[in-house]
Amino acid sequence: MIKLHDKNFKPFVSAKEIDAALQRMVDEIAKDVGDEIPVFVGVLNGSFMVVSDFVKKYPNPCEVTFIKLASYEGVKSSEDIQRLIGLTQDLTGRTVIILEDIIDTGKTLFEIHRIFKNEKVKALKIATLFYKPEAYKKDFKLHYIGIEIPNKFIVGYGLDYDGLGRDLPEVYQIKQTQHMTNLVLFGPPGAGKGTQAEFLKEKYNLVHISTGDVFRYNMKNDTALGMLAKSFIEKGQLVPDQVTIDMLNAEVEKNADAKGFIFDGFPRTNAQAEALDKLMDSKDSQINAMIALEVDDEVLVKRLLERGKTSGRKDDADETVIRNRIKVYYDETAILKDYYAAQNKYFGVDGIGGIEEITERLSAVINKL
Ligand code: IMP
Ligand code: MG
Repeated sequence: MIKLHDKNFKPFVSAKEIDAALQRMVDEIAKDVGDEIPVFVGVLNGSFMVVSDFVKKYPNPCEVTFIKLASYEGVKSSEDIQRLIGLTQDLTGRTVIILEDIIDTGKTLFEIHRIFKNEKVKALKIATLFYKPEAYKKDFKLHYIGIEIPNKFIVGYGLDYDGLGRDLPEVYQIKQTQHMTNLVLFGPPGAGKGTQAEFLKEKYNLVHISTGDVFRYNMKNDTALGMLAKSFIEKGQLVPDQVTIDMLNAEVEKNADAKGFIFDGFPRTNAQAEALDKLMDSKDSQINAMIALEVDDEVLVKRLLERGKTSGRKDDADETVIRNRIKVYYDETAILKDYYAAQNKYFGVDGIGGIEEITERLSAVINKL
């Protein structure tokens, strides 16, 4: 991660990927241009790196020149007026290829087209290393596109954020600070995790993601991921972490405007905790806390045996089975407790008392995050 002025940026396109994209553009353009000597026109400032690397790769003779669009305030209106500087060469009858670093809204391109209308060029072609299809508002044809990217601000390889970042050999994407509350909720069987998740979800406008529920839903609806998961489960194998993470990713994306998530049943291992951190990081977010409901074993056993009388769940009826489930829980969570404690994100909450009382205790932790 890098910081320019007040903003953080994360690695997005490597120097190698840029090189490969440029090579593809060079190959395509060289093929189309053939024997003719084209004039490559870079649009300063951003395109200096693109143009430099591009023409070094170009296999045939070519000419290179630069233009710059300077914007100034219109005299009569507050509208931005663009003026072209640097086009001193006669381009009559020439094949001109504009080399852009990035095409965003297409405003710059509009000006270029307006200005070139008076030049009697043979052909005007547009090539851009980066293109943001979601931001593009014009309908000028883009003849050569290197890499399509989402509508997020990038820096590096000629592109700047308020003057900085042009010198970077690779491209970084802005990291938007998301004000989300993402919780990992833990608790031994019978601790009241499900009940509390329901209350917290309402109170903090969070989305409750129980991996067990998500699996069952996907399998029931025969989604691609569900069928994949089923193929492992039916063989008696554990579902690979990546499959679960892909499912979680889909759930998180489905709820892009959520205030946060309660993860329930995941992670269960260090590797999964790391994978979840990576997933949240890719969403410019993070896990804020692991909250574990703490309830004494004897109380749990009593509660579950009580539940077993009415729920009909076999695993709630047998004390040995219950004690073993509790043991498995502690064996599992000990590792995760350490993982989150190392990041100061572990919070144990007393899970004995009235439902509202416990919700209050949980809220006290969440409100301080
Ligand atoms: P357009 O005129 O909206 O297509 O945008 C083109 C110009 O906006 C580029 O030449 C850049 O100077 C700037 N720009 C657009 N998107 C980005 C970005 O993600 N990072 C840095 N500059 C950008
Ligand atoms: Mg530019």
